[in-house]
Amino acid sequence: MRIELTVNGERAEADVWEGESLLFALRESLALPGSKNACEQGECGSCSVLLDGELVCSCLVLAAQADGHEVVTVEGLGAGDELHPVQQAFVETGAVQCGFCTPGLIVATAALLERSPEPSDYEIREALSGNLCRCTGYAKIFDAVRLAARR
Ligand code: FES
Ligand code: FES
Repeated sequence: MRIELTVNGERAEADVWEGESLLFALRESLALPGSKNACEQGECGSCSVLLDGELVCSCLVLAAQADGHEVVTVEGLGAGDELHPVQQAFVETGAVQCGFCTPGLIVATAALLERSPEPSDYEIREALSGNLCRCTGYAKIFDAVRLAARR
């Protein structure tokens, strides 16, 4: 089946099969490999994107469900060559090691700061509880979120 959607502000079309995930369509059909495929079970958050402004695991959303909707991926957060403030904060605080979890964490953090510009530590923990990182121990990630919030 053919789907039409808006991805990072631009109209996009893709041929997908009925059971195909949005994550697969983004990566394989729409040339957007920023969203990572780790568990494909909704456990790790590495595939996080915004669907009509809501944070979702794109591995759990059918591509067909995104037909006619708006998707923002990590590639769409910055403005041209300019990093999004959350991306910049992750770089500056050393919150990126292998980087596999980073796109999902950045999308989740951007969504958090959009709805709560000055989050408490509890809110940060709650908001990022669906995003797993096996490298950093989370301290630097929290530093990045706090830095982005201050800005
Ligand atoms: S790949 Fe989607 S939650 Fe892990
Ligand atoms: S930086 Fe490696 S999994 Fe998070």
